[in-house]
Amino acid sequence: MSLFVFQRFSFRRLLALLAISILPVVCGGWSWIDGRQSTFDTHGPVAKSQLQVFYTTVWVTGIIFVVVAGILAYATLKFRARNADEEHAQPPPQSHGNPLIELSLIAASVFALVIIAVPTLRAIWYTYDVPEAEKANAYEVNATGLQWWFRFEYPNEAIDNAGHLIAANELVIPAGRPVRINLRTADVIHSFWVPKLAGKVDMIPNRGNHLWLQADEPGYFWGQCAEFCGEDHAVMRFRVVALEPKEFADWINQQKQPARTIAPTTTEQIHIQPASFEFRRNAPGWSEQFDANPMENWKQKQFPEKNEDPALIASGRKLFQEKTCVSCHTVRGHEGVGTTAPDLTHVGARTTIAGGLLENNETNLRRWITDPNNVKPGNKMYVGVPMGGSVMPGYMLRDAQTGHLSPNIKVNASEVTALAAYLQSLK
Ligand code: CUA
Repeated sequence: MSLFVFQRFSFRRLLALLAISILPVVCGGWSWIDGRQSTFDTHGPVAKSQLQVFYTTVWVTGIIFVVVAGILAYATLKFRARNADEEHAQPPPQSHGNPLIELSLIAASVFALVIIAVPTLRAIWYTYDVPEAEKANAYEVNATGLQWWFRFEYPNEAIDNAGHLIAANELVIPAGRPVRINLRTADVIHSFWVPKLAGKVDMIPNRGNHLWLQADEPGYFWGQCAEFCGEDHAVMRFRVVALEPKEFADWINQQKQPARTIAPTTTEQIHIQPASFEFRRNAPGWSEQFDANPMENWKQKQFPEKNEDPALIASGRKLFQEKTCVSCHTVRGHEGVGTTAPDLTHVGARTTIAGGLLENNETNLRRWITDPNNVKPGNKMYVGVPMGGSVMPGYMLRDAQTGHLSPNIKVNASEVTALAAYLQSLK
């Protein structure tokens, strides 16, 4: 490309080339600088240290680029063929190297490498683990990657007769405090990345990795799996919610409670008018209204929904059992005991469902329950989870021998409405 440009050098061509190279920036605007997953918009010491390394590298390589490109442009212009005679002239006598220039270039390269290496090594040590002085103050969580969602465990938050606190897809942490995260995987390699706070470190089978991060202020941060892990890798997302210490302690206490039970006010069997829902593939799972203030929306989610219907919720709870949802999902205090899928004890208090892909609201819950494969093709709720030689069925049942899928769970629109109401009630 550069040869082509300089052989027939013209400023018009150079301008065209420049225009093409800045086109993505013009089209994309500056949103990548402060977007939801921008590494330029740092909110904690680990991300800051990583950004510093990036800037140092950009400066050093930028200066090298300007010097080399400047010399190249100068030589190209100064020694270009000015007329037909010069174009066909013999090349000038060739020399073989100049020890002084070569030694200076080696020295300059080493110097540039040292300038980059010193802050890089310092950042590697700094970001590897919580600094010694802060260790006593650090909060510990376990994050496990699964196809295609994240399990978050709080090993030091014991629950009577139920081990410790387990959540999914939303990692709630105390702000202003280092958090050490033990990274594990239950299946293939995933990678844990919260661009504004820290990242990324792989979650590797049979290997205990870890990272630490800290959110300086309370906030709502987007996270993403950053290692290809199968067909839904691109939609394997999560959130980090950083809270003030008092709010965090309240949240922990609330989460330790068993699932919220709402007594039906009537023993009458409810009858919902059958309705049908249509869902478009790739319909956005996120509303602009949510984006305007995610933290405020997260707080709203902690309270019961308006217009709860106790009879509908009770019917949803029954269906949750009958449709075998319980064999994969835990709802602590209710019937669910499964551990292969996200713990739903407090799912109603989360801002997201479907592995951070959809905003948690009634429409999206219906969409997810009605046709999970439409939202996340090939997800385990749809095709089931392999367990040893057999398969824990999902919506479809996979034949262990042939691999063929046949329908297993059927839910009609009224049942979906009841299930969605039940899940929304789990605050
Ligand atoms: Cu998990 Cu990509």
